[in-house]
Amino acid sequence: MALACAAFLLVPAWGVGAAQDGPAEVNDVPAEAKDASKNLDVPYEGSEPAALQAMMDLARVGRDDFVIDLGSGDGRILIHAAKRFGARGLGVDLNAKLVEIAKRRAKAAKVADLVRFEVRDIFETDISRATVLTMFLYPGVVMKLRPRILSTLAPGTRVVSNEHHLGLWRPDAARVVKSAEGRDGVVYMWTVPARMAGLWIWELGPSEVNDTVLNYRAKFTQKFQDFGGELVLGLQPMTVFGARLSGAEIAFSASGEIGDRIVRQDFSGRIKGNEITGSVRFSGGVAETVLPWRAWRAPEALK
Ligand SMILES: C[S@@+](CC[C@H](N)C(=O)[O-])C[C@H]1O[C@@H](n2cnc3c(N)ncnc32)[C@H](O)[C@@H]1O
Repeated sequence: MALACAAFLLVPAWGVGAAQDGPAEVNDVPAEAKDASKNLDVPYEGSEPAALQAMMDLARVGRDDFVIDLGSGDGRILIHAAKRFGARGLGVDLNAKLVEIAKRRAKAAKVADLVRFEVRDIFETDISRATVLTMFLYPGVVMKLRPRILSTLAPGTRVVSNEHHLGLWRPDAARVVKSAEGRDGVVYMWTVPARMAGLWIWELGPSEVNDTVLNYRAKFTQKFQDFGGELVLGLQPMTVFGARLSGAEIAFSASGEIGDRIVRQDFSGRIKGNEITGSVRFSGGVAETVLPWRAWRAPEALK
C-alpha cells in the first residue's frame, strides 16, 4: 500500500533515528483482518518499529499520558505505550477484526487494564481527553482532522503523525525513519498551541520602574504556534520581538520609551483561557526589575 506520499516537507538536521531492536508489539496481522480495512478511509498498514519508537520519543510518552490512536489497527502503538511507559489510552478502528486482535494482544501483554479498543469512526471519536494523539492515516484524512485537533485538544497536547504532515502547521519536531525494506519515512510532532489571538490588556505598577501605573494594550494575531502583533504602552508604540508560543507557554520581548528612557521588557507566562499569568523583566534604561504580570483578553466588542 502506498502510504509513502506527501513526505516532501523539508527534512533538515532533525536527526535520523532507526530502531535496531524494535518493540516486541510489532507482529504480523492475518490477511483477512487487513483486508477488512480495504474500503475504509485508510487501509491497514502497521507502523514499523522505527516509526513507532520515533512517535513515542517525539511525543515523550510517559506514565501520566492518555494516548489516543486514531485508526488503531492491531493496537501496537497503545500496547507499546502502555507496556514500555505505563501510559493509558484509547484506540479506535472501524475494522472490528483488528479491534478484536488489539484487545487480545493487549490482554496477552498484560496491559488490558491500561488501554481500551473500540470499534468507532475516527471522525466520531471524542479526542478531547488525549494528552498525546497518534495517527498513521492518509494526507487528506489528517488534514480533515486538523481543525478538530486545534479546537478540541488542550494546549500542550502532543500530536504525532507517521508519514503525513498537517499542511501549513509547521511541525515542532520530525525524525527520518527507515522501514525494514530500507525506505525513508518521516514522523512528525506538533504541540497544540493555546489561542493567543486577540486584544490583551494589562497594567503594571506603580513600581521601581515607573512611579505611575503603566497601561498596556496588545493586539496579537496568530497562525498556529506563530504569533505577533502590536503593543502600545499608554499612547507609545513598542517594538515586539522574539515571540514564542509552545502549548500554553508564551514569551515575547518589547522595547520602547518609558518616561525618557528606552526600556526592554521580557514577558513570559502561561495562558489559561482569557488570562495570562507570568512575569516581566525590565532592563536596559532602568535597573533590572522583575514584576508579576497578569493580562486579560478583551471581549470581542472592545476590539
Ligand atoms: C495505516 S493503519 C494504522 C494502524 C495503527 N495506527 C498503526 O500505526 O500501526 C490505519 C487504520 O485506520 C483504520 N481506519 C480507516 N478509516 C477509519 C475510520 N474512518 N475510522 C476508524 N478507523 C479507520 C483502518 O482500519 C486501519 O486499521
